[in-house]
Amino acid sequence: MISIVGSGRVGSSIAFLCVSHGLDDVLLFNPNKEKAIGESLDVASAIPADSKFSIHGTDDYSELSSSDIVVITASVGVYEKDRTENMGLQVRMIKEIAQKIKQYCPSAIILIVSNPLDVLTYFFQKESNFSRFKVIGIASSLDTSRFRYYISETLSVPQSSISNALVLGEHGDSMVPVFSGVKVGGNPLFSMIDTRDPITDAVRNYWKTLRNFKSRSQFGIAKNVFDVIESILHKREIFIPASVVLEGEYGENDVSMGVPVKIGRNGVSEIQKIKLDDTESSSLKKSAEKIRNDIKSLQD
Ligand code: LAC
Repeated sequence: MISIVGSGRVGSSIAFLCVSHGLDDVLLFNPNKEKAIGESLDVASAIPADSKFSIHGTDDYSELSSSDIVVITASVGVYEKDRTENMGLQVRMIKEIAQKIKQYCPSAIILIVSNPLDVLTYFFQKESNFSRFKVIGIASSLDTSRFRYYISETLSVPQSSISNALVLGEHGDSMVPVFSGVKVGGNPLFSMIDTRDPITDAVRNYWKTLRNFKSRSQFGIAKNVFDVIESILHKREIFIPASVVLEGEYGENDVSMGVPVKIGRNGVSEIQKIKLDDTESSSLKKSAEKIRNDIKSLQD
């Protein structure tokens, strides 16, 4: 069963994709029971006729007990200028959720979506003491989708012609698009652009640009979470960047941040070491430091 804690736009969009693709039973949790029931009733109308699965809404954590995967999209409020607004309240919330999940479904794989993503991934893993390979922050793959989109738009090429695009580090202003390995139609991206800055700025500010036109994102993150759920349940390994607590990888400790990982039936099976140029290496160090400082600012 896939449980989703938080049944707002993102949580209900994830539920819709999982149900309409017949992935598994879905449980939508919200402390506001009516909200959870309302969204689940709506999504229930998207259950394929040949599906053996269903969807329900609840405000009772004990119903999460048979979850294989728990997705956390919950939020105490809306951030306006930066994803770290409400950070203290979000961390307090994630610690409470971690205790409930530890109590009712201690063997589940956890996908964190709530912001600030890297900080919450870190605190969930520490509070739950779950394997760091079973607490996965989903956001760098979303940033990578945006990176591919802007390369495609800038060069007027189809995304299918772009390979090795990756965004690592913070799901925030210090994120690191990795240009050095990208190929377009088999040729190095660097042979087609003069500077990284315009695309880097566009990717980092994508969520702010989007908010000029709608209140917040939902479909991009929902699809990126769906892809991970599908790879776990269908035992089909995928290679994406995701936020994982690091223990020396990329020279970093005491932080969770976006790194290239292999994900399969048991969560993260490998943190991959990839080649970065000097600019990317130093930007990734700064990004790790930024997240670590956020974490330290909340530790007693
Ligand atoms: C965004 C949210 C998911 O980047 O952080 O749109």
